[in-house]
Amino acid sequence: MDASHRAVELLRRAERVVVFTGAGVSAESGINTFRDADGLWRHFSPEVFAEWSGLMEVATNEPHRAAQFVLALVEPILMAGPNAAHRAIAALERHAQVTVVTQNIDGLHEAAGSSAVRNVHGTLYETALLDGQFHGRIEREELGAMAAVLRPLAEGPATFESLLAALAPLMGVDERGLYRPRIVMFGDMLAEPDWTLAKQAAQACDLMLSVGTSGEVYPAAMLPAMARDAGAPVIGIDPDHIDCDIWLGGKAGEILPGLLAAAFGQQS
Ligand code: OAD
Repeated sequence: MDASHRAVELLRRAERVVVFTGAGVSAESGINTFRDADGLWRHFSPEVFAEWSGLMEVATNEPHRAAQFVLALVEPILMAGPNAAHRAIAALERHAQVTVVTQNIDGLHEAAGSSAVRNVHGTLYETALLDGQFHGRIEREELGAMAAVLRPLAEGPATFESLLAALAPLMGVDERGLYRPRIVMFGDMLAEPDWTLAKQAAQACDLMLSVGTSGEVYPAAMLPAMARDAGAPVIGIDPDHIDCDIWLGGKAGEILPGLLAAAFGQQS
């Protein structure tokens, strides 16, 4: 049996599926990944921009560059909607119990209708206090307004003060203390309770789909091994060959709808 047929059989039989996703699942929505040719980390070095301390240093010394980074992160997300891969993952709930574990902060699985989404790297649509406690929800419109204020700063000149004022929806100080985006940067603990729930789901699933993730960032990248240790095979869906039991090479927005249609008939 070839890889596609084995994947179809596994999907038909599965009762508890974990769909583990990374930036690749949103690539066809127009959001660049991190490590592909035009990825975010190709334009902004992760050694600096993926850590709060590095980001604060840039904000202080080169505020226009910090504004460029925030825009590069936020604007594609604001313009994006769910694609065929997000919709197929949501449709899978008609056939099995599904937990989506995503490293993405774009909210597109929820927008597509998935009901159990664990955002292990947080979400752009919430702020947190310094101890990680939930602070508040941010609406898309607020982020859009913020982007409009940031754009001239990104083109310069910009000051640290003007940058902080522009970023007020995402970070600042209020009566409850310092707040910041509820997203996980390098060196942070993963978002809770999502991470604990994600590990539980991986240990209890009978099939994992790993979609659009290079598997380079730990501890999230442990999840496929956890599923495998618990006896669940891992189907990898990615144009690049990733570590998995069955690899379906290609774009998630093309492979996933085809896989569901082959397993369960045409999905609306
Ligand atoms: P990466 O950029 O590391 O990997 C993206 C993966 O998506 C690659 O394996 C691509 O081959 C694949 N890909 C590209 N287009 C695709 C498509 N149309 N369909 C399916 N797959 C496609 O992104 P992540 O693995 O998500 O964390 O990165 C993990 C973490 O690294 C991120 O959450 C972020 C980043 O640093 C933090 O910053 C904490």
